[in-house]
Amino acid sequence: MDPLKLISVLPLQQNWTPPTLPERNCEFNEIIRYATMPIPRNIFVSGPRGIGKTVTAKRVCEEYKARFPSRSVFYIQMYRGLSETWDKFYMEKPKCKRNASTFKQGIGDHVLIVLDDVDCLYRKNDLNYLLHDLFNLDRQLCVILISTQSLYTYERTVFTDAVKSRCQFMPFAFRPYNVNEIASILQMRLNLAVEGSVSQDALKFISEKVYRHGSDMRLGLRILANAVNLAVQSSQPLTLTIAEQAWRQEKQSYWRQEYMELPPHMALLLFSVCVLLQKGEKVTSGAAYKMYNELCRYHTVKPLSTRQLSAYLSILEQKGFLSTSQSMSNLGKTTTITSDLPLEILVEAGRTLDWQTILK
Ligand SMILES: Nc1ncnc2c1ncn2[C@@H]1O[C@H](COP(=O)(O)OP(=O)(O)OP(=O)(O)O)[C@@H](O)[C@H]1O
Ligand SMILES: [Mg+2]
Repeated sequence: MDPLKLISVLPLQQNWTPPTLPERNCEFNEIIRYATMPIPRNIFVSGPRGIGKTVTAKRVCEEYKARFPSRSVFYIQMYRGLSETWDKFYMEKPKCKRNASTFKQGIGDHVLIVLDDVDCLYRKNDLNYLLHDLFNLDRQLCVILISTQSLYTYERTVFTDAVKSRCQFMPFAFRPYNVNEIASILQMRLNLAVEGSVSQDALKFISEKVYRHGSDMRLGLRILANAVNLAVQSSQPLTLTIAEQAWRQEKQSYWRQEYMELPPHMALLLFSVCVLLQKGEKVTSGAAYKMYNELCRYHTVKPLSTRQLSAYLSILEQKGFLSTSQSMSNLGKTTTITSDLPLEILVEAGRTLDWQTILK
């Protein structure tokens, strides 16, 4: 097998729009068909995270622009509020007023507008206002809305009757990819990124992991980029062993992030518990606090009191990281800690953190 050579990193990056969309061709063609009809239809794309809604819409914008160079095409990423959305949309034009009326000026007679991630809007009515504004323009308009929630949910809980009758969205529910589809998408991106051997076992391994995590292709691309990196650095082909190593790294970085999102001392307490549990011993709260204190001493930071630690332990339990059970003996009450988290990965991830800086 030939060692892997990198031709371009771009196809392995998440914000890159590929020239073709394997496994989304049907959806792409259908959307293009409705968007380019003499009287275009409005479209509502829904589906879980990371399954190609945005990338399909972006390819639709490109195709529409190629077919009708004189028409206007806008891709608008929605944020929490409308003012924030317009602020970000007009980022490169600091001097113009950032609102819907600026947008409406001079957009031409035929317009395609994609409103992505409409579920980000905090206030339900913001979307109604925006659609009202757009449809009052009296232009030949095609609006594509993208959301993780279904059109049915929007019609029941968000849209006003006026919006419903005016826009009449066509529902497009994107379904998650299956293992083979994931593999073919990854293969397409690999073909554009590298030269050399990629074992089919490696690709299958990554695709199965992605499938088990809701077919979120972002995860797929992250593992793939990790694996390519490892193979290129060690001048090897992309083998199953390398794919497994890339997956471990991905899990580690996931758990690193989880630690970082906890208050620092709570994270260190969790790490202490994991270290002890991984040794296969019965872990009591006392043992965990002792380990935590030792780590604090090692990192030269002041430890929290036992009372605070006990409160932290309950929070970790509420968050689902650990379970505790109480028992009475002649030595008093003992709290035993268990956990069904992947301990080995948590310990590995915890070891790579710079605790001294985190705890400061
Ligand atoms: N069929 C496909 N072909 C090539 N790349 C794909 C395909 N589907 C998804 N991807 C890639 O997977 C990643 C995630 O896709 P995308 O951002 O479109 O997901 P999404 O459905 O919009 O997710 P979210 O709801 O979180 O916004 C992107 O990098 C995208 O390029
Ligand atoms: Mg998206």
